[in-house]
Amino acid sequence: MDIKKIPVIMDVDTGIDDAVAIMLAMSSDKIDLKGITVVAGNQTLEKTLHNTLSVVEYFGRSDIPVAAGADRPLVKELYVDPATHGESGLGTAKLPQPTIKPHALDAVSFLRETLEKSEDKITLVPVAPLTNIALLLTCYPHVKEKIEKIVMMGGGAFEGNMNAVSEFNMFVDPEAAQIVFDSGVDIVMCGLDVTMKSYTTMEDILALKATDTKAGDFCAEAFGVYYDRYVSNSRLPGCAVHDAVTITYLLHPEWIKTEKANVKMDIDGAETYGQTVCDFRPDRDKTNDNALVCLDIDREKFVNLLIKACEYYK
Ligand code: BDR
Ligand code: CA
Repeated sequence: MDIKKIPVIMDVDTGIDDAVAIMLAMSSDKIDLKGITVVAGNQTLEKTLHNTLSVVEYFGRSDIPVAAGADRPLVKELYVDPATHGESGLGTAKLPQPTIKPHALDAVSFLRETLEKSEDKITLVPVAPLTNIALLLTCYPHVKEKIEKIVMMGGGAFEGNMNAVSEFNMFVDPEAAQIVFDSGVDIVMCGLDVTMKSYTTMEDILALKATDTKAGDFCAEAFGVYYDRYVSNSRLPGCAVHDAVTITYLLHPEWIKTEKANVKMDIDGAETYGQTVCDFRPDRDKTNDNALVCLDIDREKFVNLLIKACEYYK
């Protein structure tokens, strides 16, 4: 029996874990990756675009269109994170120079055109600040009816990584995130509650490397300083592979525990700017629920999925 693939467009700020998420998506015969749009975040747009082109070409998928998007958040100055992702954005990994070029359309036009032309609804998977997606939903609200849902990496119900309560992608462009959460499009929020449980230990990284594939080598190289930083600065015994959780959710939602909530962005709190405020109260007005919040994952299955994805590149 022919199983219908899930049509997907990813929005990335590549980024170590973005690269792993792209590699995972491209390895799956259940996902039809229609394109990748790029935004500034982990590094400047110039670098995240370069990295995204390198990643798709390195993994043999130069056919996937890559479109350049916003080079800064809607309101704030851009904040980049070389301490986590390195000066290049890909940590200690060195990929060959890409020979492919970005798509002729900018990210928002590419999203608009692809959604408009598609017969099927498409799932958007942003794993980066939500600038491109907010611009799309604001400028072309009619495309909402072509969006199946938004499965995002961002936010956290019970923790932050930029301050006590804000997660990086939300913190970089909270105003964009507010537009997305208030858009009426169904959202699956893979925030820190689940992504900090989706980590790879040194043993796992050695297992990825042992696949003896270009994907395993890439993970082992890219996770170098990234892994050290997590182990010394966080409570984890490994490094969180945040962005890959979105693709895991698409492939195996049954591995992930979720709960419905009403999620609102805080864009003016002095201590809470950038927080995804998640209301789970049983007596809340459930007609306002706008998101499925991911809270837990079967980590062993997640790591095995990454290993399997690496093996695909043999
Ligand atoms: C998120 O921020 C970036 O560092 C990662 O790529 C991920 O999307 C985690 O907070
Ligand atoms: Ca990212």
